[in-house]
Amino acid sequence: MLNFFSIPNQSFNGPVLITGAGGCIGAWTMAMLLKENIEVIACDLTNNKKRPELLIENEELSKVPWVEGDISDTDYVLNTVKKYNPESIIHLAALQVPFCAADPTAGAKVNVVGTVNIMEAAKQNSIKRIAHASSMAAHSFLPNSDSLKTLYGAYKMCDEQISEVYWQDHKVPSVCLRPAIVNGVGRDQGMTSKQTVAMLAAALGEPYDIPYKGNVSHLSAAEVASAFIHSVSYDGDGAFVFDIFGESVNINETIKIIQEIKPKAQITSSGSEMPFPSILSDIPLRDHLKERISDYGCIDTKTMINETIKAFEVLIQSGKIDKNYLK
Ligand SMILES: NC(=O)c1ccc[n+]([C@@H]2O[C@H](COP(=O)([O-])OP(=O)(O)OC[C@H]3O[C@@H](n4cnc5c(N)ncnc54)[C@H](O)[C@@H]3O)[C@@H](O)[C@H]2O)c1
Repeated sequence: MLNFFSIPNQSFNGPVLITGAGGCIGAWTMAMLLKENIEVIACDLTNNKKRPELLIENEELSKVPWVEGDISDTDYVLNTVKKYNPESIIHLAALQVPFCAADPTAGAKVNVVGTVNIMEAAKQNSIKRIAHASSMAAHSFLPNSDSLKTLYGAYKMCDEQISEVYWQDHKVPSVCLRPAIVNGVGRDQGMTSKQTVAMLAAALGEPYDIPYKGNVSHLSAAEVASAFIHSVSYDGDGAFVFDIFGESVNINETIKIIQEIKPKAQITSSGSEMPFPSILSDIPLRDHLKERISDYGCIDTKTMINETIKAFEVLIQSGKIDKNYLK
């Protein structure tokens, strides 16, 4: 799916530091940047590279500086940014919905203090290209929303506000993206990862029940990675927050598409509708980036599902993924 997106590589003059580089979006972002020969500094809590290894050849990955540390540790963040002097930062490290619910204090440290640390490092080092991740879950705290309120969403809403204050008080610019449901190789955790798990189950020939119904976002990991990269490919001029949703598709249609590609796939869905928005617009983000650099591109759901199943089949054949990955 990397080939579906075009990156303005001439606009990069220094390394891109990615936090949460071992995560799903981090891995896609890194793969896309490396394909364009753009220098990357990878940061994550551990050196577990299982997701990047699904997308990037080991030889290439081994050349990327990988800086282990806790994003909530202020000294680690400040020292790392000072040492590597990145031109831009894509801040993705976070704990997702179930992990914040299970350990609210850890969630606040990683998801809120982590963002303050990144903003502080950007301020101290005069970095003008920062993108960070909020989430569709922040919508629950907007006026008139009837979406489920979660601690995760509360922390993400707080991150949006933190970045606005850093622009107001210190002229630290940023683009904050609110991804909806991200799909693709490497999407293996979080309450919304189940569409991808269904694609993997189809590739493995295993039955799978998607535990929700209704119309939901089908955003590809490559598309969101491209949007993050475009957001740091020029010097920022404010603190902006945008939804990034992709297509809204009914889960029944998702299953139909999977079964067109893998006619023997035993994929079902049950449960209730997702307690988050079933459709949001990408137009404000597209317009913002078109005005400043270029559109970040898109991939339709059918192609995204087809490409993801094909990629899983190659990974299964090469022994990089097996049935245990479904657990
Ligand atoms: N995947 C989605 O559908 C989705 C949707 C909305 C928002 N987001 C946001 O996008 C970002 C990336 O999402 P993802 O799907 O790649 O998540 P992910 O869970 O796959 O990856 C998160 C990464 O953060 C790292 N991390 C966790 N705690 C850390 C700590 N204390 N210090 C340093 N690193 C730590 C993890 O090791 C992991 O590699 C996150 O901020 C997430 O909240 C994702």
